[in-house]
Amino acid sequence: MDARGIPKAELHVHIEGTLEPEMAFALARRNGVTLPYAGVEDLRGRYAYRDLQSFLDLYYALMDVLREAEDFYDLAAAYLARAAADGVRHAEIFFDPQAHLRRGVPLEAVLEGLEGAIRDAEGVSAYLIPCFLRDLGPEAAMETLTRLLPHAGRFVAVGLDSAEVGYPPRLFTDVFARARAEGLRAVAHAGEEGPPEYIREALDLLRVSRIDHGVRCLEDPELVARLAGEGIPLTVCPLSNVRLAVVPSLAEHPLPRMLEAGLMVTLHSDDPAYFGGYVGDVYRRSAETFGWDEATLRRLGADSLRASFLPAGERDRLL
Ligand code: HPA
Ligand code: ZN
Repeated sequence: MDARGIPKAELHVHIEGTLEPEMAFALARRNGVTLPYAGVEDLRGRYAYRDLQSFLDLYYALMDVLREAEDFYDLAAAYLARAAADGVRHAEIFFDPQAHLRRGVPLEAVLEGLEGAIRDAEGVSAYLIPCFLRDLGPEAAMETLTRLLPHAGRFVAVGLDSAEVGYPPRLFTDVFARARAEGLRAVAHAGEEGPPEYIREALDLLRVSRIDHGVRCLEDPELVARLAGEGIPLTVCPLSNVRLAVVPSLAEHPLPRMLEAGLMVTLHSDDPAYFGGYVGDVYRRSAETFGWDEATLRRLGADSLRASFLPAGERDRLL
């Protein structure tokens, strides 16, 4: 089934995770960066991960080619064109400020590039969500927030990503409280590799509007009942979960169980250049694997728009 015609929102995509090998080599050449890979094929051959960390090691290494505003522009422009072709009408795009600041890339270059691409994109709107790298800890997150807040009007929310286990959401309670006091919404990766307790902490302590991933909620029936009852969106990324060995195969992914449990599930790509598919592929492959009809895909698309941070009027126009 061709799901590209179905209106949808992409709510879980890391812009650095849309860096295709071809663009990585082109930017390396443009910026005089030497990559430790023989070429595109050699690089693609390394896209076999044991777990989240082994992916993150490559993801942080390869983004070293992103140096100038123009690089972030080209990255986001390519992503948004591809998303629009997949029926994405609105995207809420994660980026990792700390991963750029620590390489000496100024925040303004990142923002200028990403915002320029969003302004020039056709057929798709987008918001930006800076994420804190949880494995750098709460003090680094607070420092980063201090640098972000003068630009608070340029973001819709803050997020939390990177290595999950050992870095529970509760560590970031003060950081998120401060961001929310400044009018930003909140989301957090939780329950990807981490336990259901991290999902509870994200809800109760970080006061998030959505949970990114959240698949491990199924280990805790009381939590499932709460998430379903409160209609908390879970931005699920099945191709990512397979590639990062969160689940053994797409056929064994708990998506059908999550829907049966009445959870507000939405479908996303996470890091499409690294996990073998953009959101159109995620819809198509999930439909093939789980035998979903067009009505199911349309419902998932509509739910993704409902779970977005678009103002009600704009959202309803897309539904
Ligand atoms: N999980 C956590 N952090 C990330 C991911 C992910 O899949 N992709 C980029 N940062
Ligand atoms: Zn993610």
